[in-house]
Amino acid sequence: MLRSSSIKNEVESRFTCSYDLTITPHSIDTDTRIIPSNWCAGFVFAWRKARDMQISVIGSGYVGLVAATCLAELGHNVICVDSDSAKIAALNAGETLIHEDCLQELLSRHRGTRLLFSTSVQEAARNSLVIFIAVGTPSADDGSVDLSCVEAVARSLAGAMNGYKVIVEKSTVPVYTSEWVQNALTSKDHAHAEFDVVSNPEFLREGTAVTDFLYPDRIVVGSSSERAAGIMREIYAPLIDGSYAQLASAVPKPEPARPIPMYIETSPRSAELIKHASNAFLALKISFINAVASFCESVGANIEEVCRGIGSDSRIGPEFLRAGIGYGGSCFPKDVAAFRAVTHEFGFEFPLLDEIKRINEEQRARFIRKVRGALRTIKGKRLAVLGLAFKDGTDDVRESPAIKVIEQLLEEKCQITAFDPAAMDRAREILDGRVSYAADAYAAADGADALLILTEWKEFANLDLVRIKRLLRSPIVLDGRNVFSQAEMAEAGITYHSIGRPTLEVSPSLLKKGQSSR
Ligand code: UDX
Repeated sequence: MLRSSSIKNEVESRFTCSYDLTITPHSIDTDTRIIPSNWCAGFVFAWRKARDMQISVIGSGYVGLVAATCLAELGHNVICVDSDSAKIAALNAGETLIHEDCLQELLSRHRGTRLLFSTSVQEAARNSLVIFIAVGTPSADDGSVDLSCVEAVARSLAGAMNGYKVIVEKSTVPVYTSEWVQNALTSKDHAHAEFDVVSNPEFLREGTAVTDFLYPDRIVVGSSSERAAGIMREIYAPLIDGSYAQLASAVPKPEPARPIPMYIETSPRSAELIKHASNAFLALKISFINAVASFCESVGANIEEVCRGIGSDSRIGPEFLRAGIGYGGSCFPKDVAAFRAVTHEFGFEFPLLDEIKRINEEQRARFIRKVRGALRTIKGKRLAVLGLAFKDGTDDVRESPAIKVIEQLLEEKCQITAFDPAAMDRAREILDGRVSYAADAYAAADGADALLILTEWKEFANLDLVRIKRLLRSPIVLDGRNVFSQAEMAEAGITYHSIGRPTLEVSPSLLKKGQSSR
């Protein structure tokens, strides 16, 4: 298996310099150029008219499929490639494969015309000027990135270089990967291949990936070649000059409306680092607020009030300050570990990254202790669980904090009945028959000793709490995502444990009344 930890050695053996002063065969422009939108408006519009690009996107996962579809939406001719022929057959047959807003509509719009699907990397590459690599980069056991799939694509591409190409790293990869891809492509047999490698990280969130692509805050392009940088500007011209948003057929701009994106040009190394540092910083924000929430519990303060106070400082901002049972998903856990591994590999210790992860794990352990405390003993208890996805708006359960909490409760011999609006099929693949599934939140609550909320689905906030109370054996709710206000729970007469807020206890007399009215 090829790991990111081997990148340093490969790069070193090719260019015998220290890491910071590595000399590459192509000179790297270390300047970061931020192109202001008014600068773009005049120039880029001309580029957009220049031509529609022939593009391949290798990989049809979340990132690849969304990127391929959105690039077609921008007017380019795109071939999306995957080695999994069943996936390609399904995509050709009209399936969407992933749960993502607007994707179905855009796929129907472009499939068979501007967007084709194929299993052949080489054929797609021969017909393209630009090749985006968007294959999986899973974690190895030590947290470093397994780059085997990127390597396999690079090897295939080496045999398909029938003219100048721009190879774009879209997958999240550690710093120096672009140089390593460059080396992989410059093999003995293909020494004359003409190409540039560019880093163009994605910042797509699941659930809003299409609008994140079409209305991004920023587009980051790391390139050491002016020729490749020009081609990348041309690809994104309709976004950076705002002309895409003007089209009658455009996917509507999300609210609050985003301004025209910043177009940020950097060296490839900086672009690679921007991706890891961005995700690590967002994870840091979540872990920071979760630690503050735990301290709020110690001193009787309220995290919602504290967040309002902190987040209204424009230097901090209100985003990513929602306390809960921690972050999950396919990116944050993997990227924090990968960033840690690559910094260590280069001899730089970054213990803050370990702490982000530690707090995230502690947050789940703390929640389990809360469940134990609320029910005194949990062995044999029947628990209703609302939420299985790693966040709302998705059916993705990868690294889901909800699944991790359930696994722990099952180990402690609890019986679980779960409900999730989208993720039950995916959860079944992990939890097998160890959990029962309910048709809705009320069916899950029926007869349970307590109700646990583990994913922040907006629809949970609209539940009829009086009905929930009537259905529960004891009126106890443990809210791991602070979906409800304390006032609502108080009004419904439910004992309510949440994150970073004082516990709301229902008096024993009310509790008896609640039970007898079942
Ligand atoms: C993330 C990044 O946001 C995106 O830019 C990158 O490209 C991929 O990784 P995503 O994994 O889709 O996107 O989810 P995101 O919305 O960022 O949430 C990640 C996790 O953090 C979820 O488990 C969510 O519940 C949790 N979270 C988020 C919090 O606990 N509190 C918050 O305030 C925000």
